[in-house]
Amino acid sequence: METERYPRPLVLLHWVMAVLILATIPIGYRMSDLDPGPVQDALYHLHRSIGVTVLALALVRLVVRRLWGAPPPHPALAGWQRALSVSVHRLLYVLFFLVPILGWAGTSAFGAPILVWGFFELPPIMPRHETLSEILLGAHGLFASTLVGLVLLHVAGALYHALVRRDGVVERMLFGRGG
Ligand code: HEM
Ligand code: HEM
Repeated sequence: METERYPRPLVLLHWVMAVLILATIPIGYRMSDLDPGPVQDALYHLHRSIGVTVLALALVRLVVRRLWGAPPPHPALAGWQRALSVSVHRLLYVLFFLVPILGWAGTSAFGAPILVWGFFELPPIMPRHETLSEILLGAHGLFASTLVGLVLLHVAGALYHALVRRDGVVERMLFGRGG
């Protein structure tokens, strides 16, 4: 079924952000289990740099989506599928902001520097406070786990459309003719 595709800039942002998020999640879970040392430090810096990049790209994506617009839900979707996918997409957008901002706030309260790709440091957005840092980083972990759940649901849905239904839903988010 031939339907409208996502505009190319949104397709590019979708895949760049997907790769960054899928990379930073396992780093997030692994880094705190390591012994303190240069490897742990490097992973923390990498995790924060990727996370801050996701936050910046989320802002760009929202602006681009406003300017270029996104296609309406695919016509082959049943009512409940449409409602589910739109809700999941909206929640993902919320988490693109909430998760990194909580990481930034929690790291500020902890008192650690946020050195972005070794180039510049982000200013703290919270006063230094141990309990506050534990609460904020706890919330960061909780919402990051929510993000993992939604990504699994999203990818399962995408695979179902690609392999079982073969209805052209996934093609809308691929680079191709007319995209
Ligand atoms: C989309 C962006 C991000 C994702 C998906 C993400 C994901 C995660 C995950 C899955 C964990 C492990 C949680 C756990 O062990 O329960 C984690 C931990 C952590 N993240 Fe992020 N994160 C992101 C952005 C950031 C940013 C921007 C910062 C700071 C500037 C940050 C700082 C931290 C810190 C300090 C921890 C360790 C928390 C602890 O040991 O208690 N994260 N993150
Ligand atoms: C790895 C496999 C993935 C596939 C095959 C995939 C596929 C797709 C497809 C086909 C759409 C368009 C759905 C439609 O036409 O209604 C879409 C939208 C979307 N995807 Fe993914 N995706 C993947 C991973 C991810 C990841 C890891 C994230 C973020 C964590 C993500 C976030 C989103 C968001 C937010 C939208 C809504 C876009 C908008 O309306 O602006 N995707 N994805």
